Amino acid sequence: MAVKLVAKPGEVEFPKGMEGVIANESRKSYVNGLEGKLYYEGITIQDLAEHSSFEETFFLLLYDRLPTADELAILKHRMTQYRNLPNEVYELIESVSAGYLAKPMSVMRTAVSMTALFDEAAEEETEAAFEREAIKITSRMATIVAAINRVREGKPIVQPRADLSHAANFLYMMRGEEPDEFDTKVMDVILVLHADHGCNASTFATLVVTSTLADMYSAVVGGISALKGPLHGGANQRVMKMLNEIGSADNVENWLADAVAKKKKIMGFGHRVYKAMDPRAVILHGYAKEVTKRAGTEDWLVMAEKIEKFMIEKLGQKGIWPNVDFFSGVVMSSMGIDDELFTPIFAVSRAAGWTAHALEQRKDNRIYRPRFVYVGPATQEYVPIDER
Ligand code: CMC
Repeated sequence: MAVKLVAKPGEVEFPKGMEGVIANESRKSYVNGLEGKLYYEGITIQDLAEHSSFEETFFLLLYDRLPTADELAILKHRMTQYRNLPNEVYELIESVSAGYLAKPMSVMRTAVSMTALFDEAAEEETEAAFEREAIKITSRMATIVAAINRVREGKPIVQPRADLSHAANFLYMMRGEEPDEFDTKVMDVILVLHADHGCNASTFATLVVTSTLADMYSAVVGGISALKGPLHGGANQRVMKMLNEIGSADNVENWLADAVAKKKKIMGFGHRVYKAMDPRAVILHGYAKEVTKRAGTEDWLVMAEKIEKFMIEKLGQKGIWPNVDFFSGVVMSSMGIDDELFTPIFAVSRAAGWTAHALEQRKDNRIYRPRFVYVGPATQEYVPIDER
């Protein structure tokens, strides 16, 4: 039956927010929302978090299989080669990030876009060029975020090192000192957990741009823009804001009861696909125990666990469970990371998924071009401006 494309408002039923709509085929990742499971290329997120690394996971997403040791070494080498940024991009970051002037996600969006202007290969139209750009952009996102962090803290930008893993080098550039093994592992896990997640809003945005055959930088800038919002990547930052607002574990129940009664959205809970526990939240909860112990921030964890218990009891039956953003804020704050950096770090990781999906889309492309149901006036006369 043909869909009615001209109708009265509300007359035609459709899945708002494209819920349940199949956008395309993809082999990158699968979210089993009812059972609370996540797989990249069929491998569970638990296995990847425990045994893999960000670079290996990136290889898996890019090339649809795990690498051999040599292949992994080559990808790592290629990533380190691209770590540095054009001077003009460092200057841009310095000029807008000092004194906490501009928000990091906005600076990142502009810095990635500006990097393209200094990349002669940015618009090259070959498969080899797209693959190179995927690796280049994913590598450089970490340098951009670390530089933003340094300038915001009034400290000199730290140049990348080629002898460190992606996670270790990222923390090194953020802090100006080499991280220990534990912090490196935690950052690596954060990057692995956020690398891909089915047809989420930012990946879809990336693919809409890619489907027009626009370049990889433009596609990633589309992804960053979509990730920025509080309903998507911006939620983790607001979780910490909520913890600070609640103030202490004793206040959790009153605060939440009031918020739930007022139908407020509790950040770090709920998901379009998961109607069970987000497995990434379980993994981060595990790390939060050790990270908060080391940092002496156990109070945050106690509060977060109380919130989790309250929410599951009250709203679990409705399918509202903690998502990845709930514990990531506690983990990153305890590692001394400013909450404005949480979403940019999410982007550092998700760049792997965005670019891998963009390459997949390019191999069998058709432009995304859906329709609206038109609910405006059937016809009306044009009225000249001086007669209105
Ligand atoms: N707190 C309280 N109620 C909620 C929440 C929440 N966090 N999330 C959903 N609900 C309720 C919502 O009020 C609605 O209730 P009712 O049917 O009575 O009106 C029902 O659940 C369905 O919610 P929805 O907003 O229509 O669901 P959605 O699939 O459109 O939105 C979501 C999914 C993630 C945007 C939403 O759950 C939300 O806003 N959560 C808070 C923000 C957040 O944590 N986002 C991070 C998502 S995970 C990381 C990522 O992918 O970026």
